[in-house]
Amino acid sequence: MQDGRFTLPEQDLNREPFAHRPPDFRQKSEVMITDRGYKCRITNIVPLSVHERLFQLRIVDPAERELFRFRPGQFLMLEVPGYGEAPISISSSTSNREFIELCIRQAGHVTSALFEAQPGALVSIRGPFGTSFPMESMQGGDVLLVAGGLGIAPLRAPLYWINDHRDHYRDVRFLYGAKQPSELLFTYQFDEWKTVSHIDLHAIVERPDENWKGRTGMITALLDDIAIDPENTWAIVCGPPLMFKFACSHLDGIGIPMNRMFVSLERRMHCGMGKCCRCMVGSTFTCLDGPVFDYWSVINLKEAI
Ligand SMILES: Cc1cc2nc3c(=O)[nH]c(=O)nc-3n(C[C@H](O)[C@H](O)[C@H](O)COP(=O)(O)OP(=O)(O)OC[C@H]3O[C@@H](n4cnc5c(N)ncnc54)[C@H](O)[C@@H]3O)c2cc1C
Ligand code: FES
Repeated sequence: MQDGRFTLPEQDLNREPFAHRPPDFRQKSEVMITDRGYKCRITNIVPLSVHERLFQLRIVDPAERELFRFRPGQFLMLEVPGYGEAPISISSSTSNREFIELCIRQAGHVTSALFEAQPGALVSIRGPFGTSFPMESMQGGDVLLVAGGLGIAPLRAPLYWINDHRDHYRDVRFLYGAKQPSELLFTYQFDEWKTVSHIDLHAIVERPDENWKGRTGMITALLDDIAIDPENTWAIVCGPPLMFKFACSHLDGIGIPMNRMFVSLERRMHCGMGKCCRCMVGSTFTCLDGPVFDYWSVINLKEAI
């Protein structure tokens, strides 16, 4: 101690033993120590709509690439150097160890800077953070995936998971809605999901254009079109809060228990790991206790939706 000040010993997270093994997501405290930065190169950028693009990232260090694991529904903090960080859902397959895909809407400061980047640019990621969809618990049941607009971003990882373990699930339905046809994302994967993954996919738009041949209306109209076995169905609903509120209360009305419906909550976040309290809803940390919550927890969270 000098002049009343303490000098803390230098700490290098990378030298800590826990940083060299994959986190155990069954233990929440383990998730808190995954504040690990990975330098990534943008390897590909796919335009999806006027405002959304798919960014394919590759962790630069091969050993770190091997270490990185995540569960469907988790997010990471994406840093654009010099601009800051934004929480983004991981939108790729958990079994794809080579690339991480992020479906991003140009919203503000960080994402606008990212939209200026070209393939080859370097960014950083921290994480993965947060809770995930209980894919193992859903085994043996029917799965209903409902997405509105950009809500398809967190749903792609469960879609890939189901494709990888297709025999473990019974009927899988994917209902996808957007305001207009040009806002439906990943339409180039629809045929693959239908024919290869054997997923019954239905799309709907609120404002059709002259080429639209599908259903018109709100996403809840699609729920009326399909037969659901409430005793055996698990649901994942992602999209704007109003949309998942209507969809979940519809599913509640036909008898799917609220603890078998899962949603992903979005809140403004800063640290992503339970330190800054930016994401709190009451005493709940959206970054640690969520972003994936069952609907029963969400309706009991004051001001969650
Ligand atoms: C768990 C999680 C997962 C997410 N996944 C995705 C994803 O997969 N893809 C995706 O595109 N987005 C995702 N988001 C949303 C994304 O993190 C936000 O859009 C983020 O704010 C973008 O950062 P930005 O710096 O570009 O925008 P910001 O500069 O933060 O602005 C974003 C929007 O918020 C408004 N805003 C800015 N400051 C404030 C303020 N103080 N109060 C209220 N509004 C404000 C802006 O006007 C703008 O409309 C996710 C968010 C969470 C929490
Ligand atoms: S984002 Fe900091 S506590 Fe959740």
